[in-house]
Amino acid sequence: MSVEPATAITIALTKGRILKETLPLLARAGIEPLEDMEASRKLVFPTSKAGVRLLILRGSDVPTYVQYGAADIGVSGKDTLLEHGGEGFYEPLDLGIAQCRLMTAAATGVAPRAGRIRVATKYVNVARRYYAEQGRQADIIKLYGAMELAPIMALADEIVDIVDTGNTLRANGLEARETIATISSRLIVNRVAMKTKHSTIQPLLDQLAAAVAD
Ligand code: PRP
Repeated sequence: MSVEPATAITIALTKGRILKETLPLLARAGIEPLEDMEASRKLVFPTSKAGVRLLILRGSDVPTYVQYGAADIGVSGKDTLLEHGGEGFYEPLDLGIAQCRLMTAAATGVAPRAGRIRVATKYVNVARRYYAEQGRQADIIKLYGAMELAPIMALADEIVDIVDTGNTLRANGLEARETIATISSRLIVNRVAMKTKHSTIQPLLDQLAAAVAD
């Protein structure tokens, strides 16, 4: 069994935009993967910095790994953090990348239905909270993708989804209605690791904050 030094750090990322935009920030802190993560099928990558390794996870699994300390640090969209609930970690740094909005949307020009509505989304916890806060009765239907199809096929009256350019909504005859939250990628740190590995994590946070500010 390998014994890891108390200063070893595991950072959880996801492929795609977060990886592409986070790697230059990590490089500013002297952390570079030893191979092309986007091209590889591997899930664990050693880096140029001794004791620092990177993981590739599904986006919705990043907060779970950090919550339980299986990863010390993660980079996750605020949408994913809102849906997860945020237990077990701090959120010390807004990386300002992958900016978009979490919104409600419905068929273009169709007036909001009075009374109980159906809402399709993969953000079921966010949606449940939001409609309750608005005092609107909503049945939340869990979907795993292609939310835009739900109003067209009369599965739901509204959806809750990420909107960036709005092109996906427009292409499917939908319009954005209300903004639930503005979204960007956040650095998250396991609460216990923040204490036990403070001497390693704090300088890294400082370097990343400086890279973001530039
Ligand atoms: C998101 C979202 C929309 C799209 C919105 O999907 O679910 O489909 O982006 O972007 P737009 O407003 O610029 O058209 P994403 O590509 O992140 O993939 P996903 O379906 O896995 O969430």
